[in-house]
Amino acid sequence: MGQLDGKVAIVTGAGSGIGKAAAKLFAAEGAKVVCADVSGAEAATAMEIGPAQAAAMTVDVAKAADVRGMMERTKALYGRLDVLFNNAGIEGKPAPTTEYDEEDFDRVLAVNARGVFLGMKYGIPLMLETGGGSVINTASVAGLVGFPGLVAYTASKGAVIQMTKTAALEYATAGIRVNAICPGVIWTPMVERFAGGSEEAQAQLTAAEPVGRMGRPEEVAALALFLASDASSFVTGAALPVDGGFLAR
Ligand SMILES: NC(=O)c1ccc[n+]([C@@H]2O[C@H](COP(=O)([O-])OP(=O)(O)OC[C@H]3O[C@@H](n4cnc5c(N)ncnc54)[C@H](O)[C@@H]3O)[C@@H](O)[C@H]2O)c1
Repeated sequence: MGQLDGKVAIVTGAGSGIGKAAAKLFAAEGAKVVCADVSGAEAATAMEIGPAQAAAMTVDVAKAADVRGMMERTKALYGRLDVLFNNAGIEGKPAPTTEYDEEDFDRVLAVNARGVFLGMKYGIPLMLETGGGSVINTASVAGLVGFPGLVAYTASKGAVIQMTKTAALEYATAGIRVNAICPGVIWTPMVERFAGGSEEAQAQLTAAEPVGRMGRPEEVAALALFLASDASSFVTGAALPVDGGFLAR
């Protein structure tokens, strides 16, 4: 018996890193999974899972028409939506606030914050049709503490946490739970890019983790699975760290 047997899940950012690990884990636990990404890499994730249990959709989460279309296609394919993992995100080009590029700021907010808003706006109605569901939004420890050079990213992740709490309150009696996860430093293509191939930067990122190593995407996916499943039936409106102790300092 899988923890998500009979459930239908959408995972955004499913072409890489945390989203890919979550799509595979949700499927291994019995869910039908819509793998969504803007990159085209969602097709490989869906292929790995297999056509009986996964579909790939190319979606830019910052575009309302794309997100609405994803919900319509999910309903047409699987008839329902139980789990929505709003996970797609970008880091933006690091720079001090006074030098931060304005277009870059807008794009980071559009993907990370607007993308989560659009996911909830168009996904929650589909969940309401069948009496409930679980929304999981990927925030970050950077939504809770400051990070020099990441003014747009920290703003976007703070927004994700606040939107999570607001939606959780709005739909608390409608059977919909809404939670955020706050990963610490997880070794994914995003962090690889951030480290820019520098061993020193990698060592600094590792040193930020009290456990002495970066996290693995599968370790974040495990928290997403808990929130997706009925095991977390009394958890809503939370912003849960999965951070190797990062926030304990
Ligand atoms: N890796 C970390 O240390 C870390 C820490 C905290 C939070 N996060 C968050 O976790 C989430 C996943 O990040 P990751 O580390 O797996 O990064 P990643 O770069 O490996 O994966 C992100 C995926 O999102 C997709 N994506 C980007 N823009 C999109 C858009 N507009 N529409 C649809 N898909 C889009 C990318 O194509 C990519 O496949 C992000 O929200 C990120 O901010 C990551």
